[in-house]
Amino acid sequence: MQKQLREIEERVLEKLKSASALEELNDIRVRFLGKKGELTGVLRGMGALSSEERPVIGQLANDIRARVESELDKRMGEVKAMARNASLSREVIDVTLPGTVFDAGGLHPLTTVARQIEDIFTGLGFSVAEGPEIELDYYNFEALNLPKDHPARDMQDTFFFGPEMLLRTHTSPVQVRTMERTAPAVPVKIIAPGKVYRRDDDATHSPMFHQVEGLLVDRRVTLGDLKGVLEAFVGQMFGPKTRTRFRPSFFPFTEPSAEVDISCGMCGGKGCRVCSHTGWLEILGCGIVHPRVLEMSGYDPEEVTGFAFGMGVERVALLKYDIDDMRLLFDNDMRFLEQF
Ligand code: PHE
Repeated sequence: MQKQLREIEERVLEKLKSASALEELNDIRVRFLGKKGELTGVLRGMGALSSEERPVIGQLANDIRARVESELDKRMGEVKAMARNASLSREVIDVTLPGTVFDAGGLHPLTTVARQIEDIFTGLGFSVAEGPEIELDYYNFEALNLPKDHPARDMQDTFFFGPEMLLRTHTSPVQVRTMERTAPAVPVKIIAPGKVYRRDDDATHSPMFHQVEGLLVDRRVTLGDLKGVLEAFVGQMFGPKTRTRFRPSFFPFTEPSAEVDISCGMCGGKGCRVCSHTGWLEILGCGIVHPRVLEMSGYDPEEVTGFAFGMGVERVALLKYDIDDMRLLFDNDMRFLEQF
């Protein structure tokens, strides 16, 4: 019987060594140690033994059971660890593989430029004001010293809704609305970005475009202040090498009035196709606020003066990005927009 037991032990331990799956190990446990297992089967025959033999065999059987059980547990642990390692290596992530690429949206070049303009002027202490795109004739023209039937209205032909309402032709009405609200307090220091509309449509004019208006009203504001602010703006927007030029001009709501050109970035001012061989590119209109405009908006022109300017955002974008046709900004062709 001892021999029988030892042989069983040897066989079990051998089997355990080669088992490589949990099911196999469980099988072995049931087959050798279970209620109907081999070891139990042998022990059942103990009744036939002499009283001297019985404790010896019993002891041996218990030792064998203990050894087999501990070996089983050990293998169980090893097999489990192997399975864990295998699943870990299956799930390994190669962090150097290229990821899934998503199409990222971007800002429209006009939005980018408008925000840059706003950033520069808010940096100079201006705050942002707004006004309606559907405007009263009074704010768009009359309060800006453009009486009904005045020939200067021809410069800004637009879309009317009846005799008194129209799509605003410029952001200058926001000057008037802001002054009416603030008068007689000073300073007024605002920019007003927004959409404007005119009856124009070609490579350099769109029926809808964007402007940024600027207005500063305070005691003793001079043309020098205007030049200083605009030169600071041009330097930041187009780079410190860019030169500015003030050209006398006419607007009914400013006196004196000027148009501001910047030196052509394409040829550096030597003259090329982009600047029509003049070396200069026009970016805005400006001037000292007309006393009658101040007066109509509630300010005393003997007490305060002001400067104003109106800048075309599309113009700035075309110059900054060397775009030669304004219509590209509105076509929404992805091949164009993706370049920004
Ligand atoms: N409103 C003018 C235009 O649209 C520009 C301008 C604004 C000129 C302010 C002078 C002062 O052409």
